[in-house]
Amino acid sequence: MAKILLLNGSPHPHGCTAAALDEVIRVLHEEEMETELVQVGSQAIRGCAGCGYCSKNGKCVFDDLVNEVAPKFEAADGLVVGSPVYYGSPNGTILSFMDRLFYSTNFSKHMKVGAAVVSCRRGGNTASFDVLNKYFTISGMPVASSTYWNQVHGFTAEDVKKDLEGLQTMRNLARNMAFMIRAFGQAAGPDGTGCPQMERDSFTSFPDGK
Ligand SMILES: Cc1cc2nc3c(=O)[nH]c(=O)nc-3n(C[C@H](O)[C@H](O)[C@H](O)COP(=O)(O)O)c2cc1C
Repeated sequence: MAKILLLNGSPHPHGCTAAALDEVIRVLHEEEMETELVQVGSQAIRGCAGCGYCSKNGKCVFDDLVNEVAPKFEAADGLVVGSPVYYGSPNGTILSFMDRLFYSTNFSKHMKVGAAVVSCRRGGNTASFDVLNKYFTISGMPVASSTYWNQVHGFTAEDVKKDLEGLQTMRNLARNMAFMIRAFGQAAGPDGTGCPQMERDSFTSFPDGK
């Protein structure tokens, strides 16, 4: 069974972002996908120190939830990251978490399907959505889309339950994601040999100063 890992960056495990992710999870289960939700936002997650420890050791020097989630991400076929909007951006906790998760892990993320889900009361959703999608698009991860940008509106989970279009967007996202995972799995084959080739040799660093 395909596995999808979901991250909730909100400090509220039963808040607006959770309500959106719950709708995604409900439909992923209808689509016979296995899910695991990790409540990231309730923990104190520090930012990346840029120390380079991970390039030698394949894990983050700060041994916290990032290192715990890394093997779950490696085993997953898809990743959904949810965040509330704070001052027009994803919240600081999820950004610190995503920076460290993506930077410290050296397994291939190629063809794992990614999706971002954002929740705001009023504004800043699309800017936050764009920021989160950038982790996927630098990693060879196809991004699942929906019938709107993946956003809900509310200050409480009850508000989000009244955002019928937002919830519809979550359901369509989940169906598209499940479809993509099934289709990519078939195209890749059991040993992954059907995956497109990835070149990694060039790395522009202008060592000659030009
Ligand atoms: C520090 C902080 C900053 C916020 N900034 C914004 C904002 O820029 N735009 C907005 O519409 N809502 C903003 N909000 C409201 C939350 O984004 C919104 O209520 C969200 O749906 C809460 O999700 P949650 O219940 O999952 O935490 C902010 C809330 C906090 C605590």
